[in-house]
Amino acid sequence: MIHKFIQPQRTLSPHHHHAGHIAWQCPSNIALIKYWGKRPGQLPENASISFTLSEARTETKVSYTPRNESSQWIDFRFDGTSSEAFAQRIESYFAGLTDYFPFITQLAFSIDSMNTFPHSSGIASSASAMSALAMCLCDIEQRIWPEAEMDLQKASFIARLGSGSASRSIYPSLAVWGKSDAVEGSSDEYAIPYTDVHPIYRTFHDDVLIVSALKKSVSSSAGHALMQSNPYADSRYQQARDNMKRLIEIMRTDDLHQWGQIIESEALSLHALMMCSDPSYILMKPETLTVIESLRNYRKAKQMPVFFTLDAGPNIHILYPHHIQDAVQEWMKDILTILPDACHCLRDRVGLGPSRIPLP
Ligand code: PMV
Repeated sequence: MIHKFIQPQRTLSPHHHHAGHIAWQCPSNIALIKYWGKRPGQLPENASISFTLSEARTETKVSYTPRNESSQWIDFRFDGTSSEAFAQRIESYFAGLTDYFPFITQLAFSIDSMNTFPHSSGIASSASAMSALAMCLCDIEQRIWPEAEMDLQKASFIARLGSGSASRSIYPSLAVWGKSDAVEGSSDEYAIPYTDVHPIYRTFHDDVLIVSALKKSVSSSAGHALMQSNPYADSRYQQARDNMKRLIEIMRTDDLHQWGQIIESEALSLHALMMCSDPSYILMKPETLTVIESLRNYRKAKQMPVFFTLDAGPNIHILYPHHIQDAVQEWMKDILTILPDACHCLRDRVGLGPSRIPLP
């Protein structure tokens, strides 16, 4: 628990009728240094840094009214369809937020959420979904207590309690979550915006090659839990800390080749950790390796600064600077011809962060 966000005085007085609606869209993000392994309280074992994306977003609308005995606390729809499973997850999430939003149990919420990226595209949506909810809650608080500034650090803190990686989706371009000696002001409790980078990174592309849209066999939370018994855990956390320091230095320059070496090593280390968990598991598909091999061959042959990273799943994020986009699209066309028909590419790029959706 972090003291500065605890606000016991923020309860609603019975004679005020607080009701309204609010909507936010929040992007997903892709980690360059990976968060994999956590301590109790959803605190990371190592610091991570990510690009905030642009096209892969969640849009969430929250209507709130005073809660009475007969009202349901939380009513949730995804893509217009009620989901009891999601509603339960949100209930337990909200129930854990009463120290930070004491008014939360005094309101009834009706929540509508949708993703801008295709259903079951294989893109993880917890980062965008939980950050959109956090922005809505902070905005509701600010409407009720207008003297409060919209505090992005609090929004990031609240998002983190929902999903660790969601803490980073609150800011434009790049964000750092987790205490690192290399980044002033960094914290395990919330993410901070990270701006000390060469301009080439602000317009970077991230095209996601979807090779499987099936639900993962092992969830991220199960994956984090398996790190506790992973024999390589301590050396992994040390490696991540060292990589973070090196990456922070490199990102002040446009030395993309050194950058890419760290990025790819992070992605493969993440999957190596899965392969040496007990029980072991593999989230990559044969197509994942086909794409990685083709990309590395292309990079070597054409001397192009194009690199990959992976999330906790089989899909490949292709990262490259804006000025080589035409060349990369040629490679993309070629690789798609040798992959199964269902494989496709979702083009994305570094984005501007969350924004409020105007409501009538
Ligand atoms: O936020 P979670 O618990 O879904 O974990 C995310 C883990 C990775 O996506 C693999 C890495 C990261 O830092 O986003």
